[in-house]
Amino acid sequence: MKTQTISLFMLILFMVLQIINIHGSHFQGGMLIWKYKDNQIYITYKVSFNSHPCDKISILNRTLLNGAGSLKCYRGCSGTLVSPLSYYCTEYSENDTWTYGQRTLNFTFPSTLDNIYVFGYRDCCWTSLVEGGSNDWSLIATANFTIRKDNGQINCSPIAAMQPVVTVKKNCAYALKIPVQDEDGDVVRCRWATNSITDEC
Ligand SMILES: *[C@@H]1O[C@H](CO)[C@@H](O)[C@H](O)[C@H]1NC(C)=O
Ligand SMILES: *[C@@H]1O[C@H](CO)[C@@H](O)[C@H](O)[C@H]1NC(C)=O
Ligand SMILES: *[C@@H]1O[C@H](CO)[C@@H](O)[C@H](O)[C@H]1NC(C)=O
Ligand SMILES: *[C@@H]1O[C@H](CO)[C@@H](O)[C@H](O)[C@H]1NC(C)=O
Repeated sequence: MKTQTISLFMLILFMVLQIINIHGSHFQGGMLIWKYKDNQIYITYKVSFNSHPCDKISILNRTLLNGAGSLKCYRGCSGTLVSPLSYYCTEYSENDTWTYGQRTLNFTFPSTLDNIYVFGYRDCCWTSLVEGGSNDWSLIATANFTIRKDNGQINCSPIAAMQPVVTVKKNCAYALKIPVQDEDGDVVRCRWATNSITDEC
């Protein structure tokens, strides 16, 4: 039997529970995934906002929406990776309350002693929620770009297929099934973010 390694590499998922503020530039959640190919790291960011106009034509024409904020490096590299965080709209709600999109860009990271890199997307503000919301967000990924001994490759992050917004009733218990896929065959686990804005939340 194949031994599976628990992935040390996090896929941070943000999902938003409840109420969308239609008037305002508000973040509704996102995802960071990466993959190593041809000596480069390809980072894909998926983001959802409730203030960016998107329609069928923008999807067909692959119009780059302006986005907001920037993807920055916090460890192992420095500076800004992408600014502004423009994206190609791939979905939108009929009622025009949210858009969802993504973009993939390639990077070359400097080699470091441990090859651990932290990059992420921090800005303000979350959409309004029944509880929390309207504050800063911090979507952070930690990646280990050391070649793995078990498969001789650099780890890829898992990929999750999930709708950008999940509306649930307050004080009710829910089980959310999040379909995931991992190219390296690693075990993928789910958890809530545990820290404050300076780290992840
Ligand atoms: C979309 O692309 C079509 C064909 O290239 C063009 O005629 C149209 O003006 C474009 N629309 C927008 C909104 O960019
Ligand atoms: C979207 O609009 C339809 C038709 O007006 C309505 O029934 C539905 O509740 C709306 N959905 C949201 C999320 O506002
Ligand atoms: C990777 O990015 C560089 C610019 O940083 C670009 O010149 C190059 O074409 C890109 N490679 C691919 C395969 O997209
Ligand atoms: C990074 O990956 C390498 C190769 O799999 C491993 O030896 C090392 O312990 C990892 N570093 C951390 C901090 O997990």
